[in-house]
Amino acid sequence: MTSPFPAPLISLTWTDHVTGAEGYLVVDRLVRGVSSGGLRMRKGCTLAEVAGLARGMTMKEALHFDAEDTQARYIPLGGAKGGIDCDPRDPAAYGVLVRFLRAVRPYVESVWTTGEDLGLSQDLVDRAAAEAGLVSTVQAVFPLLDDEEGARRRLADAFAVTVDGLGLDELVGGCGVAESVLAALDRAGVAHAGTRVSLQGFGTMGGATARFLSRAGLAVVAIADVKGTIADPSGLDVEALLAARDAHGAVDRGALRKGEEELPADAWLAADAEVLVPAAVSYAVDAVNQASVRARWVVEAANMPVLPEAETLLAARGITVLPDVVVNSGTNAWWWWTLFGDVEADAEEAFGHTRRAMRALVGQVLDRAAADGCTPRAAAHALAADRLPVMAERFGWYR
Ligand SMILES: NC(=O)c1ccc[n+]([C@@H]2O[C@H](COP(=O)([O-])OP(=O)(O)OC[C@H]3O[C@@H](n4cnc5c(N)ncnc54)[C@H](O)[C@@H]3O)[C@@H](O)[C@H]2O)c1
Repeated sequence: MTSPFPAPLISLTWTDHVTGAEGYLVVDRLVRGVSSGGLRMRKGCTLAEVAGLARGMTMKEALHFDAEDTQARYIPLGGAKGGIDCDPRDPAAYGVLVRFLRAVRPYVESVWTTGEDLGLSQDLVDRAAAEAGLVSTVQAVFPLLDDEEGARRRLADAFAVTVDGLGLDELVGGCGVAESVLAALDRAGVAHAGTRVSLQGFGTMGGATARFLSRAGLAVVAIADVKGTIADPSGLDVEALLAARDAHGAVDRGALRKGEEELPADAWLAADAEVLVPAAVSYAVDAVNQASVRARWVVEAANMPVLPEAETLLAARGITVLPDVVVNSGTNAWWWWTLFGDVEADAEEAFGHTRRAMRALVGQVLDRAAADGCTPRAAAHALAADRLPVMAERFGWYR
């Protein structure tokens, strides 16, 4: 039998002729000729990291495929990812981004749909894509749409929706992360009110997750950004901190209230909280620093934040890691629910659909983990491995 996870279909390295910066594109798999996966920019990004993220996208797409659902319009795509090894705050970064998109333009036009990820905002990616001569960062999927014009209008309208100062596109991912947390708490019979949460990252994912969890009654007791940790055991003022962020998700320390103290960078990890949400960088929790984790759940809003050895050690201590491929899959799914027409350009409809889908998925994964006696990550991989051959048979790799 062939493996449900063969080697990546396309894997390439680009070198910028101006700065020498490297960029990577990995298309892990195609479904109907198309793949989905964001573009990240960070100093130190590697091809191996991008390949791991592309594989994760294959799984996220498969996990949102329900072979029995005849109503769903969105049919999952393959997985892919792009990455550029450059500091997004470097003055040369925008030029690097435009040249990378120019170089990979044939892939964006035909097989790779992309969007913002770590270090980049959707506005910036859209602006650079237009400068690189692209119609849209998701144009490869247009031939699969029944009504391309209506679909594009719906997506554009959805991107224009804001809720209390934040764009809907910046909120749906965190809505999905928060719902994963709440589903885990409900399953364990733990009340939302008063449950404490600590996050690493306060950008798109971390910021939105903190908003949804604080509005659900949890106390956000620590937040780390690139400058360090901000903590208050009685609960931070999340909305005030959201309003004090710069374009890269760093909080202006001048906006801190009395009682909100500044702590070292890794203090978020050891916070006295029931839930930890790594929502910034990959490889944040390793075999050594996992020893300081006191939480009962680690909920992966970021991609690949917990290293495998760390997860084994955490599991041995009874700490559950809810995996990235499940927890942070909401943003990607929302793009496609909107474009294919499962949801309209409406915040309440988008949040409702996201909540139902995430709660169902977390339930399936935890049921499978209990049945197989394995971690939620192994259970999620097993569910994806069951679904991928069905997708391949029904839709094919190429259109
Ligand atoms: N944006 C999305 O739609 C999306 C979807 C799924 C997964 N993710 C994943 O979520 C993670 C965060 O993405 P994002 O889009 O929210 O990024 P972002 O750039 O919007 O925000 C990143 C946040 O992390 C902080 N940060 C950066 N380096 C840090 C460090 N070393 N220590 C502590 N904090 C640090 C920044 O200050 C900022 O608050 C990434 O792993 C990304 O792949 C993002």
